[in-house]
Amino acid sequence: MIQTVTTTPFTDQKPGTSGLRKKVRVFAQPHYAENFVQSVFDSLDGFESKTLVLGGDGRYLNREVIQTVLKMAAANGFGRVLVGREGILSTPAASHLIRSAGAFGGLILSASHNPGGPDEDFGIKYNIGNGGPAPEKVTDAIAARSLVIDRYKIIDGADVDIDKLGVRQLGEMVVEVVDPVAAYADLMESLFDFGAIQALIAGGFSMAFDSMSAVTGPYATEIFERRLGAPAGTVMNGTPLPDFGHHHPDPNLVHAKGLYDRLMAADAPDFGAASDGDGDRNLIIGRHCYVTPSDSLAVLAANAHFAPGYANGLKGIARSMPTSGAADRVAEKLGIALYETPTGWKFFGNLLDAGMATICGEESAGTGSDHVREKDGIWAVLLWLNILAARKQSVAAIMADHWATYGRNYYARHDYEAIAKDRADALMAALRDKLTTLPGTSNSGGTISSADDFAYTDPTDRSISQNQGIRILFEDGSRIVFRLSGTGTEGATLRVYIERYVAADGDLSMETAVALAPLIAAAQEVADISGFTGMDSPSVIT
Ligand code: G6P
Ligand code: ZN
Repeated sequence: MIQTVTTTPFTDQKPGTSGLRKKVRVFAQPHYAENFVQSVFDSLDGFESKTLVLGGDGRYLNREVIQTVLKMAAANGFGRVLVGREGILSTPAASHLIRSAGAFGGLILSASHNPGGPDEDFGIKYNIGNGGPAPEKVTDAIAARSLVIDRYKIIDGADVDIDKLGVRQLGEMVVEVVDPVAAYADLMESLFDFGAIQALIAGGFSMAFDSMSAVTGPYATEIFERRLGAPAGTVMNGTPLPDFGHHHPDPNLVHAKGLYDRLMAADAPDFGAASDGDGDRNLIIGRHCYVTPSDSLAVLAANAHFAPGYANGLKGIARSMPTSGAADRVAEKLGIALYETPTGWKFFGNLLDAGMATICGEESAGTGSDHVREKDGIWAVLLWLNILAARKQSVAAIMADHWATYGRNYYARHDYEAIAKDRADALMAALRDKLTTLPGTSNSGGTISSADDFAYTDPTDRSISQNQGIRILFEDGSRIVFRLSGTGTEGATLRVYIERYVAADGDLSMETAVALAPLIAAAQEVADISGFTGMDSPSVIT
């Protein structure tokens, strides 16, 4: 039954920040997915007769590629595949399954927050045995292999029924179709005080959760409505659809505007939240109070001890470099370490494995902890709910109290999307060229104290990652960061991260855009964004 199929390399299969993401029409080319999956398998050592976890966010192509991977895993000698029923597994649930089953690794089919459908995006990501995204040495090996691959192995046989729970045989390999939700929901119940959250909800606390027609629908319905007793309808857009109902499943103020408007209305619920395509991102909005992801990380870290899973305190906090410094102040007060890593959840894995950090977060709406090795949208929502239940205060009151204690890091990210790659590269190159001349000069933002291109040495394995984003630091602690996205599927995306710190005795209630206006002007002056990109304003502000 095992066939060896001759193939030729594709030159564009280097995994990005989070796996290989391409348009569906690229993935649908003959041999394209097969080449990549075989390149992954060829880069791994010692998986014979071991377990592979497999699932995806249900987007267009999910079911087809699930079958392809099953047949290839069997042909390549895996002993068992655990696959989510109907091919569904959220990214954090997949991470948990890899860990709890002691699997060799997992393949997650998703393009995360990118849209789905025949003209949209698809993706494949490999996670290692700790449940986290493959580190750079693995993704580099995959990329290298993809450039020389000349054959792949696949079983020639009928599709496996993935819609019914149970154990089936595929060649020599066992396929076990598992409930995608139950084990994950149990894990959440072990970390949080479900009794306190149930009491909060029974006492009239109202919430809305937008699954954006993506993978979290079944998870959110089970956890919020069934286990925590929130009324039916609390979960909006709760059925995963191959095209996400034409939504762009990115939980930010642009794509979750409906939820935002609802939370800003006179009759707003107490709490609103959303997650993305594959369930690892989160958006938190209190009644009349939007919480930035960077602030959310800081508040969750400062209050985690209210949840049973974190009652013994945190070992450390990690954040990506472009994430604001709000969490740094919490770490300082708690007397624990703060790690600043490059963008990409994969950089947190070693810190979590080494027991150096407990909670991690990124400005890109990702927060999580050592319970899995991925960021986790529903986890972040549950930790917020646990804190709200324990403190018996509104989100707005908790934010006000936080800023009054630590000061406020005003923060925004400006994205310039789908710009020509050579122009984006030219902008970054021009910035790099003048890094040494910037310190000591002044512009609308103030006087620049230092400027560099961020490099990271992993404290556990000493691996070095260079060119991770240009940082311009000002004398008053303000900061502008420029970097190119590693997750886009069309042209290049320039991200400009702008941050200004105001101490606890300063003005904590400015409009963010007003507080940041001088720095926004400075970003334009330093980098000539409109000159290089031809764009007068960002496509998205978050
Ligand atoms: C994915 C990764 C995150 C990363 C985000 C933004 O969601 O899992 O770790 O922060 O992409 O990456 P980008 O390179 O597009 O800024
Ligand atoms: Zn995601």
